Amino acid sequence: MEEISDKECRGGGRLKDEQNDELNKLIEIAGERLAFSGRTIVLTGAGVSKESGIPTFRDTDGIWQKYKPEELATREAFMANPTRVWKWYRDRALSVREKKPNPAHYALVELEALLPHFLLITQNIDNLHRRAGSKEIVELHGNIERFKCFEHSHPYELSSWGDEPPICHCGSLIRPDVVWFGEPLPQAELECAFAETEKCEVFLSIGTSAVVKPAGLLPYIAKRYSAFLIEINIEESEITEITDIFLRGKAAELLPKVVELSLIHI
Ligand code: OAD
Repeated sequence: MEEISDKECRGGGRLKDEQNDELNKLIEIAGERLAFSGRTIVLTGAGVSKESGIPTFRDTDGIWQKYKPEELATREAFMANPTRVWKWYRDRALSVREKKPNPAHYALVELEALLPHFLLITQNIDNLHRRAGSKEIVELHGNIERFKCFEHSHPYELSSWGDEPPICHCGSLIRPDVVWFGEPLPQAELECAFAETEKCEVFLSIGTSAVVKPAGLLPYIAKRYSAFLIEINIEESEITEITDIFLRGKAAELLPKVVELSLIHI
C-alpha cells in the first residue's frame, strides 16, 4: 500500500474544493439562464432514471451490454419470436413499475411549473416523468405502458401482462408501443420536438449519450438556432463539445440544485 503524505492529501483536497467551486459556479449560471428563459426545452435520456434503479443502455452495466438489440427490439425479432420479445418487455415493464421517480424527475416537474413555454422531450419509455407529474411531455421512443397492434397500430388497453402477446380485434398480435430499431419515430412527436427546439432559448440535455438519432440531433438544432445549451451528464457525451455549460455529475443530485438556484431569480 502506498502512503499518502499529509501534503499530498491537502493538495488533493484543495483540487476537489476548486472543482466543487467551479461546478457550483456553473450550476448558478445554469439556474440563472433557466430562470430568464422564455422558451425552454429539456431532453432526457436513460441517465435521468439511473438513480431510480433503471439501467441505461450503453454504460458498462447497460441493457445493450447484456442483450442484443437486434434479437429483442426490432420488427424482425418480434416476427421471429413474439413470445420472447413480449416476455422481455413484460419483465422490463414489471420491474420499472416497482421503481420510483427520483429527485431529477421531480425537479423537472418543478421547473415546468416555474417556467413559461416549457417542453420535456424524452427518449425514455419508462413512464417515470408522467408518474412524477410532468405534463408537457413528448415521448419520442414511445411508452412501455402503452400498446398497439403489430400490423395496423390499433391502440390496445392491456389489463395485465401474460406470457403471450394478446390478439387485436383485427387479428394481429399486440406489441408494446415503443420504437424499435429500424422503425420511424412517431411523426407528430418528431415534428413537435424539432419545431419547438428551433424556437427555444435554453436547451437542457440530461443523461443521454445522444448517439441515437434523430433525438441526438436536437441539441445540434438548438445550437444552430442560437439556444444556450446546458448538459448534465456523469461523463462527456457526443454533444459536450458544443455545450455552453457542462455539469458533470448525477442528474438526481445536480438538477435539484439547478432548479433551486433558478428559483432565486424568479
Ligand atoms: P445511453 O445508455 O446511450 O446513455 C446514457 C447516458 O446517461 C450516458 O451518456 C451516461 O454517461 C449518462 N448517465 C448515466 N448515469 C447518469 C446519471 N446518474 N446522471 C446523469 N447522466 C447519467 O441512453 P440514451 O442516450 O437514453 O432507444 O439512449 C438513447 C436510446 O438508445 C434509448 O432511448 C433507446 C436506446 O437504444 C430505443 O430503445 C429506441
